[in-house]
Amino acid sequence: MIEIVLASDNRKKLSEMAEILGQGDFRLMTKAEAGFTDEVEETGTTFEENSFIKAKAVRDATGKISVADDSGLTVDCLHGEPGVYSKRYAGDGATDSERIDFLLKKIKETGAKDTSARFVSVITCVMPDGSHFNVKGVCEGKIVFEKRGENGFGYDPVFMPEGLGKTFAEMTPDEKNAVSHRGRALRLFAAEFLKRYRKEVE
Ligand code: IMP
Repeated sequence: MIEIVLASDNRKKLSEMAEILGQGDFRLMTKAEAGFTDEVEETGTTFEENSFIKAKAVRDATGKISVADDSGLTVDCLHGEPGVYSKRYAGDGATDSERIDFLLKKIKETGAKDTSARFVSVITCVMPDGSHFNVKGVCEGKIVFEKRGENGFGYDPVFMPEGLGKTFAEMTPDEKNAVSHRGRALRLFAAEFLKRYRKEVE
């Protein structure tokens, strides 16, 4: 079994990561279980930078293989916003519902009819020796103006992936993982990790 530390505090993200990685060759630990409880400041301006910052902080503190997801929503009529600022879009301390309302208000203000958008997830893995790699998963779709569904988290109630006729929040966890940005990135991560390190870690 390959022990890896997941560098996230978001319980919904952790459970999506565990669904995909927890069934194979990996034994997952949260960063708290690995003894790391600090907040890591996301000072980067790209998903790649922030994902690396989070994974490296946990690897530096624990010495273990560390894996971080940095993700967000980019909306075309908002010129890519909220992007890396997805979590902070409506200010610190806002709820998911307030963030969605803020997003819908911003889109309505543009007057755009086309609400095409995509979710992006960059997963970075930092190894004990400091070497690292990242993979990226994308899910194309559009924003709908009415919240639909109770599952998932974040912007899920207003994001409808291409061709599926329901929002992420109307899907079961398995349905979402099959098409989501994070699901795709995690499957790429698992394949890439095993290709690079299987011999070393077994
Ligand atoms: P971070 O990667 O922790 O900086 O935050 C990513 C933010 O993007 C989350 O807090 C959500 O607002 C949004 N986000 C990322 N992935 C998803 C998803 O799968 N569904 C809904 N919102 C998401």
